[in-house]
Amino acid sequence: MHLPDYKEARTRDRRDYRRIDFSFDEKIKDKYKGKKFFLKTYGCQMNEHDSENISALLIKLGFSKVDDYNDADLVLLNTCSIRENAHNKAFGMLGRLKHLKQTKPDLIVGLCGCMAQEASVVEEILRDYKWVNFVFGTHNMYNLSNIIDKAIEENKQQIEVYSREGDLVEGLPVNRVNSYKAYVNIIYGCDKFCTYCVVPYTRGRERSREKEDILKEVKALVDDGYKEVTLLGQNVNAYGKDLYDDYTLANLLEEIAIMGIPRIRFTTSHPWDFTDKMIEVIGKYPNIMPSVHLPVQSGSSRVLKLMGRRYTKESYLELFNKIKKVVPGVSISTDIIVGFPGEEEEDFLETLDLVNTCKYDNAFTFVFSARVGTPAEKLPDNTPLKEKEERLQRLNEVVNKYFLENNKKLEGSVVPVLVEGISDKKNMYYGYSDTNKLINFSSNKSINVGDIVDVKITKAKTWSLDGEVDE
Ligand code: 5AD
Ligand code: SF4
Repeated sequence: MHLPDYKEARTRDRRDYRRIDFSFDEKIKDKYKGKKFFLKTYGCQMNEHDSENISALLIKLGFSKVDDYNDADLVLLNTCSIRENAHNKAFGMLGRLKHLKQTKPDLIVGLCGCMAQEASVVEEILRDYKWVNFVFGTHNMYNLSNIIDKAIEENKQQIEVYSREGDLVEGLPVNRVNSYKAYVNIIYGCDKFCTYCVVPYTRGRERSREKEDILKEVKALVDDGYKEVTLLGQNVNAYGKDLYDDYTLANLLEEIAIMGIPRIRFTTSHPWDFTDKMIEVIGKYPNIMPSVHLPVQSGSSRVLKLMGRRYTKESYLELFNKIKKVVPGVSISTDIIVGFPGEEEEDFLETLDLVNTCKYDNAFTFVFSARVGTPAEKLPDNTPLKEKEERLQRLNEVVNKYFLENNKKLEGSVVPVLVEGISDKKNMYYGYSDTNKLINFSSNKSINVGDIVDVKITKAKTWSLDGEVDE
């Protein structure tokens, strides 16, 4: 048994980590042939991509995937800690699984992902969820086959969570959800320690993958006919800082752009690390999509300071305007937290003011959620939840207005869309534009998932646009 520890998770020393190649214990290959697994993923794209690795590892063990947990022999929850509701959802699911296990005593249940890295969660599992078979963390995911095998063989709860990040493992098998768009990790962890955020504790220090490993992975995707690659990291703009003197996200984007994959995206960008060179590269290559996610969190410089965000409203706006100027037609989306401890009505009005200036194309808005062990958890907070929820509603009304206003500007124009599927509405396809907008559209000619087609926009809505294939 190995338990998580936030003191260790906070450590950021210059300790070298090793880059090692993944190897699979061939003795347990296909050992569970005929057994079925159900994997539930909560949270961000990083977790979604981890689940693609987890699925591949389970398939190596012999398991096959099912879409209904009632049919499964093994259920695994890949969890998220970012806000309390993600946390509650996972515990709600554990409640249902407890019930299922009463009728199916051989069911194996496990928990992994960010919640596994939280000491308070693991304590709760040890105390009240003795029937959960295994828990492993984000730093030893690659070892899940052995942990699961041990839990089954020994019929004893296995808790294996490490708070100090381990080696950087290359060559993990991956079972990608799509055959036309793919996620590629470029950097793990986060060193920013925004005061509200649990990620630097659950995901460890910033560790970049070596550029050769990333380029090799992208090259294989190009060869396999993939149309879109999304470079992933908690803060992709810090890419390379821990490895190279003179090689950054700008260089990496440029090398990938030259490889010729039709669409390149990247997420998430912290405004602090956004360099002019990066903006220039995004503007220069047509296959780097003109779409930037630039979380602002608050429009009040006073609150930004309390959040530990390292920029002011003014410096954020300067960056925002620079991106808009250098990248033609760029869409910019954001994340905003309302009700941070100490946020007053005037601070909130500054956030509304900033939204009125930036007129975002998309925004993810949240009420502050206190996370155990973060500095913001201990800040005095006198605003009642009801008032915070009212602020969220007021904010949403303003952001929605701009989504529609921006979408309306596209009416009558032709945009490139990567086809993702056929929507519920009969004969309507759906996909995303270069600027990352959801487009529902009809087509008289036959088209396939994974094609990039020109679509004429006929109607703008708040969260999507309607169109037809331009012939
Ligand atoms: N409470 C509310 N929202 C949060 N986020 C991160 N931590 C918290 C928290 N404790 C939001 C931020 C971040 C997004 C991924 O989630 O806006 O950008
Ligand atoms: Fe969390 Fe801030 Fe790191 Fe984003 S940059 S993951 S909000 S600590």
